[in-house]
Amino acid sequence: MTESSANPAWLEEETARRYQLFTQKTGMYQELSAEMVRLAQLRPGQRVLDVGCGTGVTTHFVLPKIGPTGCVIALDVSAPMLAVARQQISAPNVTFVAADAAEAAGYVSPPVDRIVCNSVFWQFRHKVEVLAALRQVLSPDGLLLFNAPEPYFIFQDIPRSPKVSVLFKQLAAERYGVGPQDLRTIGLFLRHCGFELLATHEFTRTRSAEESYLFFQLPVATAWMDPPLDYPTRMALLEEARQLAEPDQVIRQRWMYFVARPVV
Ligand SMILES: C[S@@+](CC[C@H](N)C(=O)[O-])C[C@H]1O[C@@H](n2cnc3c(N)ncnc32)[C@H](O)[C@@H]1O
Repeated sequence: MTESSANPAWLEEETARRYQLFTQKTGMYQELSAEMVRLAQLRPGQRVLDVGCGTGVTTHFVLPKIGPTGCVIALDVSAPMLAVARQQISAPNVTFVAADAAEAAGYVSPPVDRIVCNSVFWQFRHKVEVLAALRQVLSPDGLLLFNAPEPYFIFQDIPRSPKVSVLFKQLAAERYGVGPQDLRTIGLFLRHCGFELLATHEFTRTRSAEESYLFFQLPVATAWMDPPLDYPTRMALLEEARQLAEPDQVIRQRWMYFVARPVV
C-alpha cells in the first residue's frame, strides 16, 4: 500500500493544536472513549492496542483498567497528534507508534488482548488492509472495538436491494467497507475480513452549539469539501453560521459501537 489510509488533514499541526483545545473545552471524545473502554471489559495486565490514539484521550481511559502490569501501544499516523499525546501521557507502560493503521502488523508484536479504535474507523480509506493488519496482531481470543456515528452508520438492517444502483453501493460496503454501513453490511464486511461481529451498542449524546462551533474549527472537520474551500474561507463561513444560528440549540448524536472477534 503506497497511498496512506488516512485523511491528510490529520497530519496538520493546526489540527492537533485545535484538537487539544477541543478536548479541553468539550467532553465529546472523553464520553466516547469511556463508553468504548466500558464495553471492552478490560482486565489488569492486558495488552491493548489503541488505533488512531490521537492526543491520547482513549489511552487515558484504558490505563486505570489494565493497571501497571498491562500496557498500551498507542498508534497514530499523525506526528503532530502523537506529539501532543506524548506531552499528555507519561505512563511508562505506554508505547507510542507513528504508523498507518494499515501497517500496524509491521510495528506491533502480537498478540494484543484488545484493540480499541475510537472515532476513526469509518475514516480509514483502506479498511480491508486495516482489518487484515489488526487481525494479524489480535489474540485469537481477543476483541476489536470500534464505533461510527450517523450518517456514516445507518442504524437499520437494510436488506439487499433489487436495484442495480443501490446494490452496487451495498456490495461496495459489504466487500470493501466503502460508503455508509448499515447493520447488515457491517456484519458481512467484518466476516469478509475474518472477524465475527459479536455485539453492537447504541450510544446517544448531545452536542451544543458551542461544541459544533469548536468542532468545525478543526481543519480536518471541513476538509471533505470537494472542490475544497481554503481554511480562512471555511472559518469565515463558520463565524457567519454561528451568528445566524440558534444559540441554545442541542443536537442528538447517535453512535454505534461494534465488538468483534477474529474468526479462528
Ligand atoms: C478523531 S481522532 C480520535 C483520537 C482518539 N482515539 C480520541 O478518542 O480522542 C482520529 C485519529 O485517528 C488518526 N488516524 C486517522 N487515520 C489513520 C490511519 N490510517 N492510521 C492511523 N491513525 C489514523 C488521526 O491522526 C487522529 O489522531
